[in-house]
Amino acid sequence: MITVKGDKTPLFILDTGHTTYAMKVLDTGHIEHLYYGRKIHLDSEDGLTEQHEFAPGTSVVYSPEHGNISLEDMRLEMSSYGKGDVREAFVEIVNTDGSRTSDLLYKGYAESKGRDGGTEGLPTSFGEDAEVLTVTLEDKDNHIRLELIYCVYSDTDVITRTSRLINDGDGDIRIRRLMSTQIDFDPGDYVFSTFTGAWAREMKRTDMSVASARLVNSSYTGNSSNRANPFVMLSSRGCTEDYGDVYGFNLVYSGNHYESVEKSPYGKVRFLSGINPTSFEWKLAKGESFLTPEAVMTYSSTGYNGMSGQMHDFVSKHILRGPWKDRLRPVLLNSWEASYFKISESKLMRLARKAKQVGIELFVMDDGWFGERNDDTTSLGDWFPDTAKLPGGLKGICDKVRALGLQFGIWVEPEMVSRESGLYLAHPEWAMEIPGKSHSEGRNQMVLDLANVEVQDHIINVMSRVFSSAEISYVKWDMNRNFSDVFSRSLPADRQGEVTHRYILGLYRVMKTLTEKFPDILFEGCASGGNRFDLGILSYFPQIWGSDDTDAAVRAEIQTGYSYGYPMSCVTAHVSDCPNHQTLRRTPIETRFNVASFGVLGYECNLVDMSKDDLDAVTAQIAMYKKWRKVMQFGRFYRRSSVNDSIGAPGFSCLEPLPGNDTSWTVVSADKSRAVSMTMQILTHPNAQWGVLKPMGLDEDTKYHIEGRKMKFDLREFGGLINYVAPIHVRQDSLQHRTIARFYKMKAESESHDMYGDAMMYAGVHLRSAFASGGYNENMRYYPDFGSRLYTIEKIDK
Ligand code: GLA
Repeated sequence: MITVKGDKTPLFILDTGHTTYAMKVLDTGHIEHLYYGRKIHLDSEDGLTEQHEFAPGTSVVYSPEHGNISLEDMRLEMSSYGKGDVREAFVEIVNTDGSRTSDLLYKGYAESKGRDGGTEGLPTSFGEDAEVLTVTLEDKDNHIRLELIYCVYSDTDVITRTSRLINDGDGDIRIRRLMSTQIDFDPGDYVFSTFTGAWAREMKRTDMSVASARLVNSSYTGNSSNRANPFVMLSSRGCTEDYGDVYGFNLVYSGNHYESVEKSPYGKVRFLSGINPTSFEWKLAKGESFLTPEAVMTYSSTGYNGMSGQMHDFVSKHILRGPWKDRLRPVLLNSWEASYFKISESKLMRLARKAKQVGIELFVMDDGWFGERNDDTTSLGDWFPDTAKLPGGLKGICDKVRALGLQFGIWVEPEMVSRESGLYLAHPEWAMEIPGKSHSEGRNQMVLDLANVEVQDHIINVMSRVFSSAEISYVKWDMNRNFSDVFSRSLPADRQGEVTHRYILGLYRVMKTLTEKFPDILFEGCASGGNRFDLGILSYFPQIWGSDDTDAAVRAEIQTGYSYGYPMSCVTAHVSDCPNHQTLRRTPIETRFNVASFGVLGYECNLVDMSKDDLDAVTAQIAMYKKWRKVMQFGRFYRRSSVNDSIGAPGFSCLEPLPGNDTSWTVVSADKSRAVSMTMQILTHPNAQWGVLKPMGLDEDTKYHIEGRKMKFDLREFGGLINYVAPIHVRQDSLQHRTIARFYKMKAESESHDMYGDAMMYAGVHLRSAFASGGYNENMRYYPDFGSRLYTIEKIDK
């Protein structure tokens, strides 16, 4: 709800279900940020507005009439350079006269209802009930207007912010920076959490104390990047998954982004987020306007899980769109790690037949099917099937796969061109490179200049042809390099600072056109995994490949990272072969599944070469997932730090597990009648039999049945210990050992209990003893390195 009190210098109050955001226009015309946090009663600014009698020493005094005001010590809704606020600014403009000082003061406001999901080339959140407040400021001397646009989503406790700059003057101005949101918090002890990484190790959470310096999270790769995801958190020190104040911030944007937190000398903490100002410059001619991407903000007083739940709801309800938004996602098999570039129709059909047998629903042919693409040095841009590999073209293989009863999908990378390609020969000017200067490549490919409308149209036409050339149900849209030598031949010299943003606007136009033209295709975003995992992409594609790293141990951390800001239905995860192709690590096939099943499950392994035991395991996994996928893809997700917290506690000396050793997730259906919990550990802890599971999010008064997923293990994992029970001596790894293992499988312990929700959540489910070398029987919990369990929880119908 938006409430406006007062006329000349209004007080604006933005309420959601559980939060309040407030700001007040001051006599100077600046807007003071009063509050953002837990919902409060507010009918005036009394007691909330800061009281200033004298400007602090050595600070700039705003004006003779306001001798008590130094902008450096104010909590501002928006800040600029040149009038005394020496902190990092929200906006920086080069005026027509070359000066860089702006003084933007309140002019008026307007309210409206509803938001339809996109404007001026940028995707935004959407919702009929969204309440929109536009506050306008004006720099009279320089003829510039700035709109601060607030959008309130009461149902999900989210407020978004966007800004628009308008040039009302006669000459050109240049925007050096224009942020999307700014919040000046009161002094306090804050922790800034970012999700950074690199290829194959995306989304590692790092917590940093907000001391006196400025902390920056940003990308300068041309995309939102795996180096630093645009989702960040600011929390009170000591905040946990379940307790404490936490703010979550994100940006509906896929390009270079910037988030910073700065503590001023007076203790106030400024958060800024928007387009990365590095190398950015936008020329704004007379009468033109510039709109920033939408910043998303939420606050929770119930810790990180509370904040995540709100973000998940917001993304699910107000960002994801199209027919696939709430549709159950199929279980797929992707050909990449099974065949890499060495594909052929017969090889793929062998894989597809196996896929059908184990219960896969969608078969995806990854890279290598077009041009003369036998490695990554050629053919990007030549989107014609390689008939040496696919004699019947796309339609040929698609029809054959569909005849098996599977859907068919393909991989494309439309934004790129290989130097060795027909497209580059025909249109070298479409590649992003600086004419006459040497060019640096990544993965042997160049970025197409999507700032150029001609290039956008070309991609739309070519992809439309490809997508309609067969009955294609799914498209993996990849993007495999960071930008270098940024330049667009379609823009004049004084507009080259606009290229990276114009590229993203071009990309959005292409994605919007194609997703609207092919609404039934399930699109999956990918950028070497999570190099472009953001709300801009999710405004068009409902799911994104989380990481090229499918190692279960690494994936557990990566998926935990995503879960802070993104719902599980967006994150795709595959079970792959071992040793893992990224880490060479071996993890149990059941653990690979248990981790991948939290999200959109797929397989990326060579089913043709797989052992019978593993094929049996995969068949059982897929059958289980199909029964539970509605919960696993669309349920409410919770993180619990550890299943064995107390074993690793200080004082328990031997080989204490490292932080992050244990992962425990729970996902609960909307009506709380069904849930699935997972536990997983990296390293085992010796002589630690005790284990307790505390699921989350259940209904306290409901009685549930909890059951461990049935799994089988290979006897050989016990090595020479077999001789403690075998009547004859069995030499480890001998033929005899292998033969016994073939016919005799170890079953996982059976674990089942009937308990009330509150008992499970607060007292915990005390699990079977873990193996601790003292002995073994069928009731023991075999829980070695990389061990894991899935527990299904179902309401007992009386
Ligand atoms: C990227 C993707 C992979 C695969 C390859 C194909 O690395 O992330 O999943 O599709 O490209 O070249």
